[in-house]
Amino acid sequence: MSERIQAVLDLLRPDLQSFAGYSSARSSAVQGSVWLNANESAWPNPADAKGSSRRYPDPQPPALLRALADVYGVQPAQLLVGRGSDEAIDLLVRAFCRPGTDPVLVTPPVFGMYAVCARLQGAPLLEIPLLDAPAGLQVDIDAVIDLARDQRARLVFLCSPSNPAGSEIATADIVRTAQALQGQAIVVVDEAYIEYSSQASATALLAAHPNIAVLRTLSKAHALAAARIGTLIAAPELIAVLRRCQAPYPVPQPCAELAVAALQPAVLAKTRDRIAGVVSERERLFHALQAAPGVRRVYRSAGNYLLVRFDDAQAAFDALLAADIVVRDQRAAPQLGDALRISIGSPEENQRVLAALSARRAAA
Ligand SMILES: Cc1ncc(COP(=O)(O)O)c(C=O)c1O
Repeated sequence: MSERIQAVLDLLRPDLQSFAGYSSARSSAVQGSVWLNANESAWPNPADAKGSSRRYPDPQPPALLRALADVYGVQPAQLLVGRGSDEAIDLLVRAFCRPGTDPVLVTPPVFGMYAVCARLQGAPLLEIPLLDAPAGLQVDIDAVIDLARDQRARLVFLCSPSNPAGSEIATADIVRTAQALQGQAIVVVDEAYIEYSSQASATALLAAHPNIAVLRTLSKAHALAAARIGTLIAAPELIAVLRRCQAPYPVPQPCAELAVAALQPAVLAKTRDRIAGVVSERERLFHALQAAPGVRRVYRSAGNYLLVRFDDAQAAFDALLAADIVVRDQRAAPQLGDALRISIGSPEENQRVLAALSARRAAA
């Protein structure tokens, strides 16, 4: 094993270094035709027409790993699949951060689960606020590196495209962060929305920078939020270590089957068309919202949502609600006291958003 991979594995909590995890009935490599080793039922449930849910699933279904690896352009051994990328975030924090000792660094306003998982683990939370620049809400990479070094952060979460800001982090900045924190921290690049962006995935950086890990999900562009399929992509050695810390059967069989079907070429082609449609609606809405009454600022977005500041965010929220439209109120988030996040819907739904906001001028 290379020294640089070993340096990444050394970041694992010392008490987990030789942890073997749970050895499930499915994980032991024995063969037979009569399977009586997992206390499963000998008959399928009458409601389970295909009988595919009677047995515990493969912990990491090979067909799903293969399909995801093809789509993400990596090897199956680089993947850990779990219940949404939420599970991978939680797993990373639990495996690498000793309570009270190893900090997690985040860049608010940003996806809340990083801080929630840190809190649950008792890991100190470090924050470098996004900078509100003319180009949008941007990560202050120098400040991230300085604070992470100074406070010995163990995990640094970089969200690109960022939720809710919509901004992206340049590949060169991800590389710079990983280089600066080599041997000290894992840089986790959350790419939940990258399908809507034109930027290349950070997976291309993994070979040269083993302290980078990338999060992907089928919940957004692939429209499978309820199937809960999220993936961590990293060095195979890191994945192997995290597998030992994961729940025994993290991928329900019906979800794996659905995901494999969704990753077939014909379906992927339709998904790509949908993504192109969302991107074009995002651009239309970006311009149209700027002309809507009471809108202070619309941030450019590389995701499937727009962050919008209003003169009166409550009134805008209420007007949308009165039109039966629910958007995400961001006002409790730092720097976003006047902002709502609006997901890009179907063209008809987006039209209703514009109509509801424009009706305010007519009513005023
Ligand atoms: C940036 C970001 N990361 C991760 C997730 C979690 O996604 P999943 O459904 O894969 O758990 C979300 C969900 O909203 C998100 O916005």
